[in-house]
Amino acid sequence: MKNILVTGGAGFIGSNFIRMVLTEHPDCLVVNLDKLTYAGNLENLADLVGGGAAGTRGAGRTPVPQVPRVTAHDTPYRFVHGDICDAALVARVIDEHHIDTIVNFAAESHVDRSLTGPKIFIETNVTGTLCLLEAARDRNVDRFLQVSTDEVYGALGPEGQFTEQTLLSPNSPYSASKAAADHLVRAFGHTWGLKYNITRCSNNYGPYQFPEKLIPLMIHNALHDKELPVYGDGMQVRDWLYVYDHCTAIWRVLERAAPGEIYNIGGCNEKANLEVVNIILSRLGKPQSLIRHVKDRPGHDRRYAIDAGKIIRELGWKPSVTFEEGIARTIDWYLAGGKWLANVVSGAYQQYYERMYANR
Ligand code: NAD
Ligand code: TYD
Repeated sequence: MKNILVTGGAGFIGSNFIRMVLTEHPDCLVVNLDKLTYAGNLENLADLVGGGAAGTRGAGRTPVPQVPRVTAHDTPYRFVHGDICDAALVARVIDEHHIDTIVNFAAESHVDRSLTGPKIFIETNVTGTLCLLEAARDRNVDRFLQVSTDEVYGALGPEGQFTEQTLLSPNSPYSASKAAADHLVRAFGHTWGLKYNITRCSNNYGPYQFPEKLIPLMIHNALHDKELPVYGDGMQVRDWLYVYDHCTAIWRVLERAAPGEIYNIGGCNEKANLEVVNIILSRLGKPQSLIRHVKDRPGHDRRYAIDAGKIIRELGWKPSVTFEEGIARTIDWYLAGGKWLANVVSGAYQQYYERMYANR
């Protein structure tokens, strides 16, 4: 594995993954193909590779080069502004950079947005993945890693955990689109022998997460003494995974997994949403009176919990931080990175927030 195409590398997990590869595996070339949607932000990597001025975030703000370019520091990194649905572009990028490995992070990733506008989820998460798969098959790429989610398994009751054998039973348009992509990846392996892996992780948190997701949204609101909108009773459970640990797990799969294997990745950190919100408030020294229970999300999955035993046993991976350490690091990062947060909540974010929360 030398020349890696990372799609969606300007997003939260993709940029953390690129940061890890460039820092810890500098013999690899990383090509980042990203459409720069509202969630894509070149500032996430600006300190490492340059080129992330405030105006480069989000599609349509500032022109971004359409062709691969060497960055200021001559890091083994190229950025390509483009859509994974663009078959000609994907083929050109793979050929030009002799890509041997594809890691597909690119996606529409937020459940709430999939409830109000599911079409783009099908376009990017399903059609986009199909486009990458066809290119990978036709060009004999050595490995295709699909970054999936535990949400494809549906929801759990109070007991039990998702294993790799759990039936796919997605409940939201987001998770349905991710499950469709997983089936396509598997089908390309079965039919054409594409060497693939699928990873299914639990909820990630950490630096550079866009403040539409629970943890950064609550940190941002608490910092500004704004209400913290908890859906329903707040007793829904998520299994939190620190983003760096997710990245090391993906790397382990790329290095050691046999083709065709699927791995669950989880941090063994089950927490009810209210507990997470209270930890954030207490660490920031803010009062619980900021919490406001709002109308629940339709079809809200009650509980996710991951059995990560397979990747631990077979590939020797394990998470490096506890939730307490991870959340402390995350809050400290948001406190120190005030400018990053201020930039991402300017403009379109305000309209999104109004639309989502004003009459809830
Ligand atoms: P994100 O929303 O932060 O980033 C997505 C990135 O994909 C952005 O940079 C965006 O510009 C890019 N993108 C979107 N559409 C594109 C397209 N058509 N072509 C090229 N680029 C496009 O998402 P994230 O939280 O970093 O998630 C990354 C992956 O991990 C996704 O596949 C998601 O389903 C999966 N995942 C995320 C979580 C989580 O907790 N965040 C949990 C499980 C799985
Ligand atoms: P989220 O970060 O959107 O991830 P997912 O829906 O993919 O698990 O939400 C995590 C949990 O937090 C989920 O149960 C919904 C809840 N939530 C709130 O209570 N309030 C909020 O404002 C948000 C964004 C999420």
